[in-house]
Amino acid sequence: MKNVKRKKHDKDNVLHLWGGRFEQEPAEVADRFANSLKADRRLALYDIKGSLAQARGLLNAGILAPGEYSSVQKGLHRIETEFRAGRFVADPADEDIHTALEKRLHAIIGDTAYKLHTGRSRNDQVVTAFRLYQIDEIKAIIAGLLDVQSALHVLAIRHIGVPMPGFTHLQHAQPVLLSHHLLAYTEMFNRDIERLFHAYYATSVMPLGSGALAGTPYDIDRETLSGPLGFRDISMNSIDAVSDRDFAVDVVYALSTLMMHFSRLSEELVLWSTDEFGFVSLPDAFTTGSSIMPQKKNPDVIELTRGRTGRVYGSLISLLTMMKGLPLSYNRDMQEDKPAVFDALDTVKAVLDVWSQLLRHITVNTGKLHESLSHGNLLATDIADYLTRGGMPFRKAHALTGRIVLYAIKKGVDVSSLSYDELKAFSPLFRPDIVHALDIKASINSRVVTGATAEKQVKTSIKKLEKKISHYRGILGRL
Ligand code: ARG
Repeated sequence: MKNVKRKKHDKDNVLHLWGGRFEQEPAEVADRFANSLKADRRLALYDIKGSLAQARGLLNAGILAPGEYSSVQKGLHRIETEFRAGRFVADPADEDIHTALEKRLHAIIGDTAYKLHTGRSRNDQVVTAFRLYQIDEIKAIIAGLLDVQSALHVLAIRHIGVPMPGFTHLQHAQPVLLSHHLLAYTEMFNRDIERLFHAYYATSVMPLGSGALAGTPYDIDRETLSGPLGFRDISMNSIDAVSDRDFAVDVVYALSTLMMHFSRLSEELVLWSTDEFGFVSLPDAFTTGSSIMPQKKNPDVIELTRGRTGRVYGSLISLLTMMKGLPLSYNRDMQEDKPAVFDALDTVKAVLDVWSQLLRHITVNTGKLHESLSHGNLLATDIADYLTRGGMPFRKAHALTGRIVLYAIKKGVDVSSLSYDELKAFSPLFRPDIVHALDIKASINSRVVTGATAEKQVKTSIKKLEKKISHYRGILGRL
């Protein structure tokens, strides 16, 4: 410990909200190591909100006299104004934003500021501010995702009736409508929205009044504080309240799944915008060039979305790992919750901002899609189904169709271009109407069960999506 610098003991400088029982100030390296100001600075306004509620609780409990309460209130509002105007300057040596705010309040209103922390611990204070912050962020993310849903909805409507090859194993499988494919993503995103709503409810629980872990000894009516703060509920166990970070895991899990979906969409668009596929053209404004190859137009924004998925997963693993071995209740490990959650929220918000615009400027190359439908024997299953309808057991129809496909491959054509005469040589069940069955649109429109690709069904799905989007917007507006 030779080279460790120690600062002079200065009990009047509230650099730490503790210190009485120490004979030495902390080592500078230790102080710097533990400092969380950079990360939790963004909680300032939420911490002020929490402190205003705390002050009200103390007023009602008779701890703050009305005059003291109004001075705390004015002081906090002034700091809020300073913060919003970018005029709030925290000392980088302050342990965290909560320390910095208390110090500022003391500078404005004097010793009454030191009454504010009565019965409160940073353990319930921090998590109250953190939850309030997360509530707002979840709402913003749901709104952003609904914007993406609207953009996909517009794309689906605009291209209704445009067929494309559907894939399994990235091999041509069966024809589907492009809109049907797009609506697969809106289903995924709807599930993400549901998960985000769940995360919102899990977050909207007020821990304030839990103190360090045992609960405040002052007569604070927690219930009356929670509503005005915007919480739907209050925590039921003070130990759990200060040591629970499930709400953070919930939101980052929801964001991870959301990113997984965006990453799959990204992968498809990277592929679809290649010369080999050419299904879509990406807008210039969302692509980049090469420093050496003048012809290049690269899908960097989309690739970065795919790339940043790992970052969000990283946050999820950080949180789960951070929590897994912690004894109850609060442990300082938990300070690491904020960088993980903030990074995941920031990443996803940026993704949503970009994608709600990008999707509105994608061009679909229907010609290329059409061309792609003419190979890959996409209608083979329809031939097997035709034979099955004629009475052949499906397994046999499958085997026979396999032989027909082989015949087409050897001839160098797609099964859909075989003539009635060629087909009837394979089975008497083929009738002249087989040539009508061997049609992309007929294949698509034969799939009319709920959730299938027939145009009628897809139109129904688009209507349902419309309803869902406005339903979710309604819920969001009421949160
Ligand atoms: N910055 C810390 C956090 O976010 C503050 C809590 C410190 N509390 C404590 N008991 N040491 O978790």
